[in-house]
Amino acid sequence: MNLILLGPPGAGKGTQAERLMSRYDIPQLSTGEMLRAAVAEGSDLGKQAKIIMEAGNLVPDDLMIKLISERIGHEDCANGFILDGFPRTTAQAQALDAMLVERDLRLDKVISITADEEALIERISGRFSCADCGAGYHDSFKQPRAEGVCDECGGGNFERRKDDNRETVMARLDTYRKQTAPIIPYYEGDGRLVQVDGMAEITAVGDAIQALL
Ligand code: AP5
Ligand code: MG
Repeated sequence: MNLILLGPPGAGKGTQAERLMSRYDIPQLSTGEMLRAAVAEGSDLGKQAKIIMEAGNLVPDDLMIKLISERIGHEDCANGFILDGFPRTTAQAQALDAMLVERDLRLDKVISITADEEALIERISGRFSCADCGAGYHDSFKQPRAEGVCDECGGGNFERRKDDNRETVMARLDTYRKQTAPIIPYYEGDGRLVQVDGMAEITAVGDAIQALL
């Protein structure tokens, strides 16, 4: 099963990828997470990406295409993969199609998750996570049961993504509108695109995706 999760920042791509991963036993390939790992490592890619990500812009296509082309060749992708955050431009979508043809693979579905912009801003600007185990929390919707203590691992270190502030979220949404939304017709044209309402509850969104696969 080869899937793309497409949608604006905060639509729930990462949240739904987790469900799909366990259901189909295929990896989530999140380009955002790969870039954040490169930033943490301080690699050349990370150094370039850091400033771009903090401004809410896109990392150049050639770097992203190389990253994904290499990643889908890994053994854990033998049964498929879930692309989360790639492709994000028409050039990336075309490069992905070329990669798939070369490997004799095809996309099963492109799942476009939609949501209202105000809700996205609220979801993202309140988001934080446990620095030790990655469990996700939210200032308004999901505080840890005991203040300052992670429900999952008992750790006390929490972190926020550098790009999860209102100003950068607005820039990320603008980038999505201008550079990523235009790839929707690219996939609509040949029937690969399906749409789900990302404003529903997390489990309902997951069920809607399941019904389409
Ligand atoms: P990336 O990490 O991909 O960020 P993003 O697209 O902005 O999306 P998010 O990860 O913030 O949101 P999500 O859709 O995964 O939502 P989530 O499930 O977490 O990219 C970061 C940056 O890297 C980019 O800005 C760019 O600079 C660079 N980059 C990455 N890929 C690139 C590429 N291909 N080319 C160029 N540059 C690239 O959910 C959000 C919150 O909402 C969570 O708190 C969650 O619990 C909650 N939530 C989820 N679903 C629901 C629901 N149904 N109801 C209520 N709450 C919900
Ligand atoms: Mg994500």
